[in-house]
Amino acid sequence: MAIKNVTILGSGLMGNGLAQVFAMDPNTTVILRSRSIKEAPLKPVQDNLKLLVEKEALTKAEADAILSRISFTDDLEASLKEADLIVECVVEDMEIKQNLFRDIEPLCKADAIFATNTSVMSITEIAKKTKDKSRVIGTHFWNPPFLIPLVEVVKGDETSMEVMDETYDYLKKIGKKPVKCMKDVPGFIANRLQHAIWREALSIVENGIADAPTVDEALRYGPGLRWPILGILENADMIGLDLSYNIQNYIVKYLEDAHEPSKLLKSLVDQGDLGFKTGKGYQEWTPEQIAASNKRLREYLIDVTKDLK
Ligand SMILES: NC(=O)c1ccc[n+]([C@@H]2O[C@H](COP(=O)([O-])OP(=O)(O)OC[C@H]3O[C@@H](n4cnc5c(N)ncnc54)[C@H](O)[C@@H]3O)[C@@H](O)[C@H]2O)c1
Repeated sequence: MAIKNVTILGSGLMGNGLAQVFAMDPNTTVILRSRSIKEAPLKPVQDNLKLLVEKEALTKAEADAILSRISFTDDLEASLKEADLIVECVVEDMEIKQNLFRDIEPLCKADAIFATNTSVMSITEIAKKTKDKSRVIGTHFWNPPFLIPLVEVVKGDETSMEVMDETYDYLKKIGKKPVKCMKDVPGFIANRLQHAIWREALSIVENGIADAPTVDEALRYGPGLRWPILGILENADMIGLDLSYNIQNYIVKYLEDAHEPSKLLKSLVDQGDLGFKTGKGYQEWTPEQIAASNKRLREYLIDVTKDLK
């Protein structure tokens, strides 16, 4: 089956972002379906496109063409009739996601693919109430999805390999960088890696080895510089697995292996220090620093993704 018609269910932050991602492909038609037509009539997509035009990542004509490929509706049945791929982007609630797939299955084509954008929940469990579980798959996009190329394509216990390959090939064709996660495990691939680093970073701060800005500097100006170009396992091959083994054999016993959230994180949350939201987290943030951080990230991502195309 060639995927041409994509329907996004849920028009919040990720739903709008995904509508834009799929509409960037000239051969895809996108329907963004909202529970209420008043909810979000593509304003976030318009804002993102404006930014890309300002940064010369897109021409105005390309941005207009992208917008023209997206329609917005609250009519569930009509939004699903022609859909080859349905991506649900509704709230992170197991029962709501299970019931949604159960309810839409009779309204969809027999070979339609049901993808969930869940951040952490089990694909197998989300598919529990769907009759044909072979067509339920995880497609974990990262925010902002129009700038982050990665999509984790996650196999539930009963997802067919045909559906895995079709979804992966389509995402690749439309310019994303999909990876296959072959087991339905919490955190899939990239969040497991990210959380392993977060656990160690917090442990370093908690144990007085370095403060939070220093931890960030050590990553930003050290290993972080290599990561976009040199994978960490490729790096191990580069230095030699004999050396890699000796280092791991020495260090692994000293690393953080807590099975509970960090005490430091818990105490900051308890005292209401939530980061950018409150102006204080692991460090203090002025409104100017917050705006600069958000701007720096967007501009950096626009620059690096321009080169990825
Ligand atoms: N925000 C992120 O950074 C991010 C990243 C990756 C994946 N995700 C995942 O994407 C999904 C959507 O996240 P978001 O950040 O766009 O959330 P959001 O709150 O911005 O949007 C949620 C959408 O779900 C709809 N909704 C709420 N209750 C519903 C119900 N009972 N039935 C049907 N629709 C309902 C809302 O109307 C809204 O359109 C979640 O599963 C989330 O875990 C989020």
